Amino acid sequence: MKIAVIGATGNLGGAVAREAATRGHEVTALSSRDVDVLDPASIKPAVAGHDAVVASVKGADHLVPRGAAALLDALPDAGVDRLLFVGGGGSLTSPEGRRFVDSPGFPPQYLETALDQAAALDLLRAADTTVDWSYVSPPPMHLVEGDKTGGYRAEATDTPLTDDQGESRISTGDFASAIVDALERRDFVRQRFTVAY
Ligand SMILES: NC(=O)c1ccc[n+]([C@@H]2O[C@H](COP(=O)([O-])OP(=O)(O)OC[C@H]3O[C@@H](n4cnc5c(N)ncnc54)[C@H](OP(=O)(O)O)[C@@H]3O)[C@@H](O)[C@H]2O)c1
Repeated sequence: MKIAVIGATGNLGGAVAREAATRGHEVTALSSRDVDVLDPASIKPAVAGHDAVVASVKGADHLVPRGAAALLDALPDAGVDRLLFVGGGGSLTSPEGRRFVDSPGFPPQYLETALDQAAALDLLRAADTTVDWSYVSPPPMHLVEGDKTGGYRAEATDTPLTDDQGESRISTGDFASAIVDALERRDFVRQRFTVAY
């Protein structure tokens, strides 16, 4: 596949770009110097001709939901019908249905990003679009630096996947691998999915 990764200079976008390239995909690695994810006119030429776009961006002034909106605007005109949006885990819910981002113990330093990421998910779900989007949530707390192990679970659910100890955890390498798997299999179309061991 020909895959454009917006945010490829970032931690997760870089991991996705490397994983996709390792598997033999043709990867266009884009940073904010190559494309402005807030500007459909900038996105269109940068992604035209690709089979899929991965967006893994972070920034101030609600860049994440504004970027999601700009991508949905730009991709159909660019002839791209597949978007994998690297999302947050804060919008996952407890078994009682409360979002982690709304719980009193949510780490304040991540609150703004988590709320932005939750808004992006709402926007994608509400969109009337021809774009086959997927939104991937890491575990709410434990996305940890680490290599790919090859074993993980991925599911289209709003609650975190947990192991025998009740922990929800994934390495960045396996998270990136799950994203490339979802692209290759065209899995989780118009769904949020989450990944954990
Ligand atoms: N547990 C969780 O919920 C969790 C944990 C980690 C990450 N995440 C989410 O995953 C996403 C990626 O996180 P990360 O840590 O990998 O981010 P990061 O390392 O800060 O990378 C951000 C990327 O966004 C790019 N970017 C910024 N503004 C842009 C613009 N206007 N146009 C195009 N690209 C732009 C940056 O490009 P430059 O290098 O050119 O600035 C960089 O490549 C974030 O949305 C974050 O919320 C969630």
